[in-house]
Amino acid sequence: MPALTAMHHTTWHNTHDSILPSDYCAKQTIERFDRHWKKFFLKNDGSFALVAIDDNQILGFISAGIMRIIPEENLSVTDAYAEVYKLYIDANHQHGGMGKQLIQACFERLGSLGYVTAVVRVFTAGNACHFYEHIGGKLMTKEPIIHWPTLPYTLYYFQL
Ligand SMILES: CC(C)(COP(=O)(O)OP(=O)(O)OC[C@H]1O[C@@H](n2cnc3c(N)ncnc32)[C@H](O)[C@@H]1OP(=O)(O)O)[C@@H](O)C(=O)NCCC(=O)NCCS
Repeated sequence: MPALTAMHHTTWHNTHDSILPSDYCAKQTIERFDRHWKKFFLKNDGSFALVAIDDNQILGFISAGIMRIIPEENLSVTDAYAEVYKLYIDANHQHGGMGKQLIQACFERLGSLGYVTAVVRVFTAGNACHFYEHIGGKLMTKEPIIHWPTLPYTLYYFQL
């Protein structure tokens, strides 16, 4: 788990430090990521993480499970909705097909668990929106959703 935490922490900052408010980024400490993963693996709620490893090094990961319900989104969803929580590829290995491979493996697993739709929340300011649109994600809401002040995100869905 420490390797996953460290990779997530580094890639998160590489991705977001230039696009999100600096006070928000400063709060994203390694301890916070460590707490996230400890909680995640203890939950036992059917969520899972898949990790891409080469030469004993974590190069990417994806995590997913049942869709989190966020009241301000005001969406009509059912238990058949899954969510991709996180997808990160090491900066030196992006654009090599790993993100798509992890998504495909994740969708297969979600389908086998009985989900029919998967959603993903993406900070609107980043590049990842283009990636999700490119691989077939459909906009779930027309306007970005403001979950925290100044942090709009876009919600995509995929039929599994
Ligand atoms: C976004 C991310 C997961 C994509 O993974 P990746 O391994 O770099 O992407 P892939 O090489 O698998 O690309 C798959 C396809 O999407 C396209 N693509 C990748 N990034 C793209 C982008 N930013 N804009 C448009 N298309 C993109 C590729 O050209 C490829 O197209 P093809 O299948 O037609 O050849 C990865 O770049 C990443 O980890 N970024 C930083 C973290 C992040 O933003 N995570 C998402 C937060 S939810």
